Amino acid sequence: MSHQPPPSRDRRVTVTDLGRAKQEGRPITMATAYDWPTGRLVEEAGIDCVLVGDSVAMVVAGRESTIPATLEQMLYHGEIVSRACRRALVVVDLPFPLQHLGTLRAIEASATILKQTGCHAIKLEGTAGQADVIAGIVAAGIPVMGHVGLRPQAVHQLGGYRIQRDREQLLCDATAAANAGAFAVVLECVPAEIAAEITEALPIPTIGIGAGPGCSGQVLVFHDLVGLSGGRVPRFVRSYASVGAQISEGLRQWREDVVQGRFPGPDETFA
Ligand code: KIV
Repeated sequence: MSHQPPPSRDRRVTVTDLGRAKQEGRPITMATAYDWPTGRLVEEAGIDCVLVGDSVAMVVAGRESTIPATLEQMLYHGEIVSRACRRALVVVDLPFPLQHLGTLRAIEASATILKQTGCHAIKLEGTAGQADVIAGIVAAGIPVMGHVGLRPQAVHQLGGYRIQRDREQLLCDATAAANAGAFAVVLECVPAEIAAEITEALPIPTIGIGAGPGCSGQVLVFHDLVGLSGGRVPRFVRSYASVGAQISEGLRQWREDVVQGRFPGPDETFA
């Protein structure tokens, strides 16, 4: 696998670029974003794909899981992030349970996301059971990223946020997504050797999260990546900044200045 920096781009990253990146052994990068500043920051860092994840329900809205995320929320956050990003491929999650309500409902919701947000692809969680739904959305001309392994929308059925070890099932689900026309598939919480085997077997890129280095690329939740999550962070997450601690310190210092009467007057502020 090559570790050269991505070629500099002055055009939009496309799903075709991601397929080519896999073929050329160039790791793909994806991070989540939910609003204008996070979208800009992710894009300016040169990251290939920005995912408006249904994790918005947890990291932005403080919910216990991604299950409460609504189509309206995905449209709201997806539109802001799409406007913030001029180069990155923007992918928006299809919220639960739209991929389980029949292909027509899923096509309708995916088309609404594409039309109203200006994003470039949708992501949906599912097993081989959702292959027909993926095929239907792809047939409508909407690029689909699959998501197998730990599917947070199915957390209660899976018995918690656990590593998924059923090799046959994982291979079957990922292969079904690829055969249905998905342009890439997220592998979440999958043992590294199984993720590497799936990556080798599939013609499309795999994007890992807690799935080891053998994937075609990696994705992380923005708030986990920069140390802004506050609560529990999955064990596989390596934080690359401590933004939460810096914000807390800034707020504490500002409050102290105000209560001590050290807040500057207009002359100093606007000088
Ligand atoms: O919603 C999300 O942020 C995701 C990533 C964890 C892949 O699906």
